[in-house]
Amino acid sequence: MGCSSGPNALIPSWEAAEALHMAARKQNRKPPALQVFLNDLTGNDFNTIFKSLPSFHQKLKKLGKDHHDHDHESVSCFIAAVPGSFHGRLFPPSFLHFVFSSFSLHWLSQAPDELVSESGVPLNKENIYPAKTSPPGVHKAYLEQFEKDFTRFLKLRSEELIPGG
Ligand SMILES: C[S@@+](CC[C@H](N)C(=O)[O-])C[C@H]1O[C@@H](n2cnc3c(N)ncnc32)[C@H](O)[C@@H]1O
Repeated sequence: MGCSSGPNALIPSWEAAEALHMAARKQNRKPPALQVFLNDLTGNDFNTIFKSLPSFHQKLKKLGKDHHDHDHESVSCFIAAVPGSFHGRLFPPSFLHFVFSSFSLHWLSQAPDELVSESGVPLNKENIYPAKTSPPGVHKAYLEQFEKDFTRFLKLRSEELIPGG
């Protein structure tokens, strides 16, 4: 969730594919297929990620070769994009096994309402985040907005996860 379009976008998928590959090899089993859904806001540059997919798949194929150059079947990884906000529903019920997010969940769904006094005076001066110089009410407002957003995030994902996911 919040994959962005830089080099970090595919790292979690790589880690998961590699872990599945290693586990299957250890147990002498056929590796399972992995389906990944990359999520970010609709304005995210998903095309840049898509353009890096051939080299991702190439690297995955190489994982199947061992030190003696023997071929082992590598994990098949199917990658799709799901544009939209993680502050809303993104998947059908009981659909996902695992959800991962790095450095994204602190993006709030909105600026807290309490940043402006009842008479319309801005309380956080020109800051767009709780700063050292912000009055205590501003910190409380951001904390409450985060608690609201994160609670909703967990509720939404719990609906999308399979039981035991
Ligand atoms: C700092 S980047 C993190 C990128 C990557 N996950 C990493 O660890 O480097 C945060 C990403 O979260 C995305 N984001 C922010 N709010 C979001 C939301 N409500 N739904 C989905 N993605 C969101 C941003 O568009 C941005 O790409």
